Amino acid sequence: MNYRNRQKITYPSRISSDLNTLGFSLIKKSELSIKLNSEDALADFQEQFHKAPPDGPHRKRFYSSYIMVPNGNTGRRPQYLGSHFQQSAAVNPEQKGTERRFHPIPKEIERNKLFQELIKADIAAVCLSDSNGHLLPVHVEVHLISLTATSELAGIATPNCPHKDLDFAFFLHLIDKKHVDGGESVLYANDHDERGPKPGQEIFRTTLEEGDTLAVNDSRVWHHVTPVTVTDGHTSGYRNVLIVGITPMLQGKMGLNGAIEIDNPEIVMAA
Ligand SMILES: [Fe+2]
Repeated sequence: MNYRNRQKITYPSRISSDLNTLGFSLIKKSELSIKLNSEDALADFQEQFHKAPPDGPHRKRFYSSYIMVPNGNTGRRPQYLGSHFQQSAAVNPEQKGTERRFHPIPKEIERNKLFQELIKADIAAVCLSDSNGHLLPVHVEVHLISLTATSELAGIATPNCPHKDLDFAFFLHLIDKKHVDGGESVLYANDHDERGPKPGQEIFRTTLEEGDTLAVNDSRVWHHVTPVTVTDGHTSGYRNVLIVGITPMLQGKMGLNGAIEIDNPEIVMAA
């Protein structure tokens, strides 16, 4: 997919400066510009979350990663890379660095217009270019996660603590939510001690509603989502999110010593 072509969803222009200065940007549903008949696409997309396979007792998940290219490659489809997912123990202490294999995102979701346009909007919002101003291909990690809660069991994210995902930036889209409390998105400043980097002071807390997006500059802040519990008077509920992690693919070449040297390490956010 030419990720700069015929964009149908756009965010307010402040998103880039928010990501650069604050480290995050909250975009409410009412601030989106959508040139898409999205109601049918939204209903279809919401339905797909219920088909996701279990990822632990409180979660369901689809996951795929892709390479996407900027202008000049019109017609290229996203290249599917795989559905294995690994985080270092330092990033996610609960999973201890193990490789997790998830069910890949099904074709019927990949064909969904709202799914496609949200990903295009996310990549366009960070507009990653090298030091010559050329847009870079990007590695995109896409999670559909459903946190489910019953009267006996809360829905809990992993890791259930402040952490980073080591993406350049990621976008959290609240796609659907029914009969749950909690699920607050919390951000913390960077800090460190003698053992290394750690989360510092809490700087932002919000509860996303359907259609809202939280964009995060992963290098600037740590993040966490609190567990979801069932609202009084109900027996079950869920919180379904689309997470799009974006990392630029820098150009590199083999140096004389055999190590890969990166040609253009400078990343510039869109002005
Ligand atoms: Fe995370």
